Amino acid sequence: MDIVYVSSEAAPFIKTGGLADVAGSLPKAIREKGEKITLVIPLYSQIDDKFREKMVKVKHFFVDLQWRHVYAGILKYEDEDNDVDVYFIDNEYYFKRDGLYGYFDDGERFVFFNKAVCQMFKELNLKPDIVHANDWHTGLIPLYIKDFAKGDSFYKNIKTVFTIHNLKYQGVFDKEVLSIAGLSFEYFTKDGIEYYDKVNFLKAGIVYSDSLTTVSKTYAEEIRYDFYGENLQGIIRQNEYKLVGIVNGIDYDIYNPETDKNIPYNFSTNNLENKRKNKIELQKLYNLPQDENIPVISVVSRLVSSKGFDLIRYILDELLKEDIQFVVLGTGDREYEDMFKMYAWKYENKLSAHIHFNQKESHLVYAGSDIFLMPSLFEPCGISQLIAMRYGTIPVVRETGGLKDTVIPYNRYTSEGTGFSFANYNAHELLFAIKDALNLYKDKDKWENLVIQAMKAKHDWENSSIEYIKLYESLLNK
Ligand code: GLC
Repeated sequence: MDIVYVSSEAAPFIKTGGLADVAGSLPKAIREKGEKITLVIPLYSQIDDKFREKMVKVKHFFVDLQWRHVYAGILKYEDEDNDVDVYFIDNEYYFKRDGLYGYFDDGERFVFFNKAVCQMFKELNLKPDIVHANDWHTGLIPLYIKDFAKGDSFYKNIKTVFTIHNLKYQGVFDKEVLSIAGLSFEYFTKDGIEYYDKVNFLKAGIVYSDSLTTVSKTYAEEIRYDFYGENLQGIIRQNEYKLVGIVNGIDYDIYNPETDKNIPYNFSTNNLENKRKNKIELQKLYNLPQDENIPVISVVSRLVSSKGFDLIRYILDELLKEDIQFVVLGTGDREYEDMFKMYAWKYENKLSAHIHFNQKESHLVYAGSDIFLMPSLFEPCGISQLIAMRYGTIPVVRETGGLKDTVIPYNRYTSEGTGFSFANYNAHELLFAIKDALNLYKDKDKWENLVIQAMKAKHDWENSSIEYIKLYESLLNK
């Protein structure tokens, strides 16, 4: 099969969220299974020179946006280590900005990206069997493929898959964007792209794709209902015949405590004493008393409300009465940044807050802590809990979306499990789940056993990449 995977971001080139981790690792896993797969992303100015040096321009052409005739350059990334072909779409007017998103013309910018990608297939004579688009930034691609196919047989047999990584971000713009896109108002209906008299790019992806997926089975169920549906539950239910959940994995080569160069002491299930040495390093770095027996609780996250920080705020004083240490790494809403700074001041020997993000440092936090908190309000899949488990750090999560599907709650009778969980979005349920974890921590043997189970749980792309390939195959003969 010939597959094209389109995303707005992909690691290691450019990353603001979990989408980039998936776009950076899933295509690789699919390639390893023997399929041909090409990745396409915009050439943002933030993409580092070390990558740009390896890019060659293969072609340029023009994209018509209303009366404008806009330049689209295609650059190919050439690196022997890379099995996946990567193309970048270049247009400095749209992609040379201070950040990736949040501009007055985001609608137009991503119309351009989507249309340029679809034109590129023909320009490069790269006729894919499957185009796999992701999140609102690529939501118009399934629609363009259908639209182009009306006038050009080249596009007739191309099938599209659309993956929702987060239903909350939808790409909603004034309807004028349709004229810029060159798309007929016949698509502007309730069953189509219309959304409260505006245009919704995510909805376009939902409606016009041949197959719709989301990043865990539980999230695929949840989004049919009001609480999780973000006002799209109706259209999701209308399209549920083609909706499936396929859980994300992580790249086990990058996240490997045995070989990770970002941590001072490599470790495995056979030498957990090195994990404790990482704890001491973490305590040094974060100015906390160095003691390998104190349980260290960590948070590595964007500091936004959907990650459950209101629950944490509510119980933090009570939790910090325990003999624990608490570390935070991440940036986000001012409200939560200030809250952690305040607690770091109030409990300077117990809580250490690092309001920035640094990949290398995050690996030390995963490796050096004991318990990882992720009490999200909703979580399509979640990646941090997978990394935490791989590094033997026990997740405490709320049972929603991918958290529910990837963390097996500890069973004190059978000792099975890989973490702790609670059901309701309630601060004391979170506190009790943490206290359960802290109680078990006191029993060194049982704790170590749980750590080993978490580290042995398999959350790489092995199974899910096969599920995607099967899904693609099922579309071919339709
Ligand atoms: C989004 C979701 C997260 C998911 C990621 C990758 O960031 O919020 O839950 O893991 O996408 O699919």
